[in-house]
Amino acid sequence: MPKSYVTSAATKKQIEETRVRRIALVIAAVALGGCFGASVHAEDKPGLAPFITDSAGCFTQEGAKEENGKWLLPDGTPTFHICKKDNTLVVDWSTYNGYRRYHSECHVCHGPNGLGSSYAPALADSLKTMDFSTFLGTVASGRIHDEAGTKFVMPSFGDNKNVMCFINDLYVYLKARASTSLPAGQLGGRNHVDRPESSKAEEKACLGE
Ligand code: HEC
Repeated sequence: MPKSYVTSAATKKQIEETRVRRIALVIAAVALGGCFGASVHAEDKPGLAPFITDSAGCFTQEGAKEENGKWLLPDGTPTFHICKKDNTLVVDWSTYNGYRRYHSECHVCHGPNGLGSSYAPALADSLKTMDFSTFLGTVASGRIHDEAGTKFVMPSFGDNKNVMCFINDLYVYLKARASTSLPAGQLGGRNHVDRPESSKAEEKACLGE
């Protein structure tokens, strides 16, 4: 992974303290995902807050708050926010963007809607128990599993901007699928909130356009 992805002094310090390559990759992924303001906090298993229906009747995770159009847990991990208006599901921008990115980068192996295939696991199930750091690490560094001579390959996406610039959104979409509040199916223009300005600026900065 190019060194330039590891930017902030804090990140460099964390890497010095890190012994395992896998964790270094997680941090590099966060530095890159940092275009979107992602951060991993001290907790060992970030992102595992329970799924709830909030006071407005919308589906999310316990403790979620909106910040510049994004929904975040107290531990800093991104999450989804899904409401029902006039019998129509309306999802936050991250969930919608993650849905689009998932179906361009991941569904060939993991199946439509995160439902899995004979080749790769159902991520809508994996994200029920997988924490945010493990997700980042797996996507950034990949994984190979050899079963009686058949190789199952999860590619490493650590230097793929079309994945890493949207890693939070991919996670948020799959987390929403894992919560079962987002059914399998297509999301169209009526099914999401307007795109926040912050998302446009961050995408531009991350893709370097
Ligand atoms: C070329 C096929 C392929 C593509 C494309 C792919 N994956 Fe995978 N992925 C796999 C395989 C195979 C595994 C299981 C590897 C194993 O068994 O160790 C896997 C495992 C995973 C896991 C761990 C799941 C678990 O339950 O432990 C995550 C998370 C994951 N992939 C995320 C993604 C995301 C996000 C994308 C899109 C950016 C993606 N994958 C694209 C093949 C793929």
